[in-house]
Amino acid sequence: MKKRWFITLMALLLLLAACGGDTEGTTTTADGGTGTTDGAGTTEPGGDGDGDVTLRILAGNVGAELESTERIAQAYMDENPGVTVEVVSTPDFVEDRLGVYLQLFEAQSSEGDVFQIDVIWPGDLAEHFIDLNTMTDSEGRTGAEIAEEHFPAIVENNTVDGALIGIPWFTDAGLLYYRSDLLDKYGLEPPQTWDDMEAAAQTIQDGERDEGNEDFWGFVWQGNAYEGLTCDALEWIASAGGGSIIESDGTITINNEAAIGIVDQAAGWVGSISPPGVTSYGEEDARNVWQAGNAAFMRNWPYAYSLGNADDSPIQGLFDVSPLPGATAGETAATLGGWQLAVSKYSAHPEEAAKLAFFMASAEQQKIRAVEYSLNPTIESLYDDQEVIDANPFFASLGDVFTNAVARPSTVTAPNYSDVSSMFFNSVHSVLTAGNDAEDAFAELELDLEDATGFPTGSP
Ligand code: GLC
Repeated sequence: MKKRWFITLMALLLLLAACGGDTEGTTTTADGGTGTTDGAGTTEPGGDGDGDVTLRILAGNVGAELESTERIAQAYMDENPGVTVEVVSTPDFVEDRLGVYLQLFEAQSSEGDVFQIDVIWPGDLAEHFIDLNTMTDSEGRTGAEIAEEHFPAIVENNTVDGALIGIPWFTDAGLLYYRSDLLDKYGLEPPQTWDDMEAAAQTIQDGERDEGNEDFWGFVWQGNAYEGLTCDALEWIASAGGGSIIESDGTITINNEAAIGIVDQAAGWVGSISPPGVTSYGEEDARNVWQAGNAAFMRNWPYAYSLGNADDSPIQGLFDVSPLPGATAGETAATLGGWQLAVSKYSAHPEEAAKLAFFMASAEQQKIRAVEYSLNPTIESLYDDQEVIDANPFFASLGDVFTNAVARPSTVTAPNYSDVSSMFFNSVHSVLTAGNDAEDAFAELELDLEDATGFPTGSP
């Protein structure tokens, strides 16, 4: 964790150095290098040099996210000649990205205008963003009107004390990716239970290794000690009837037999059907093994679908997605993820930044991101759009996965969700890596959560 904070600090310094210098036409990388975008304008960063405005988006860089954001930025500049939009790439891991944001907020820095924020952050970060309800898009529609097109549950999630903290941008839910060619080869069906998945993963792994692929693994997922593990472990636990760590009424439920049983079971995957290194994997580590053709199953978000089917992908056309397994067939759970666009209170141009955020989250732009990058829209009507469904048949066939996704306890624990989540993922990680029993780990975690929240304990 120490190393990560150091990297974050360095990233911030680089970011601020870049912001202070000549940033014309560049994409700044808040975690290291720099890239170039084509054709940005020429204004003083953050300033109004010639009556022009420069807006800076702090954006994600998982998979092809950055490329897609740069495309939107260019589209906005094409339509708005007086505006320069710069895209700043931020670290992949949620904690690291949050670290960069918090340092900017602490300095009340105007260097960031539009922030890509996680679905778990509105409660924790509300104080740093403007209320988008009364802001308007280029056609004069208010944020409150625009929000009516989006899934009500996400809008509610993003509304804190009546203020719309972020306009929904894309939504996420955990999926099971499976190699359809290999299931056929070994005469297997997509598994509906964790036990079946384990057995299928072992069979395929043994078979592929016998045929000479020593690098082949049964199942890859997100096992590093970070927010991604909170998402994966919540899925295991909820799919076993073990609740959702802290329920929406504020009851701490993590210390129960179903949760203990499934996390102990997952610990058994490490080094057997999953690489020993899975306990340091994030989304992209899992996808790299999977997309190289070296895994039978992967747990990941929808973004991996279009990348896996790209022309240069070794597994193009050889895989499909299904709901994640459960303790019993049909008992599936997917964690709700997704990202919103928020406008910083410290922005020098909040009205312009809101217009940009509304443009980025518009149906037109969400459609492009859905068709080309398999990023799930937050605008309900796009799920009736044939081009969107043709590009991503699972948006329709797995509709229930998205509508029934399990929320992390971010609203009920705000503004302390980040602390709660790190207690949880560190506890799970200790079971995966340090040989701790989930029984001991969750007894201790329950006490820590009681101390941190003051909430009562109970059954899921
Ligand atoms: C995805 C989800 C986000 C989650 C993160 C964890 O980006 O959309 O909600 O927190 O993964 O790694």
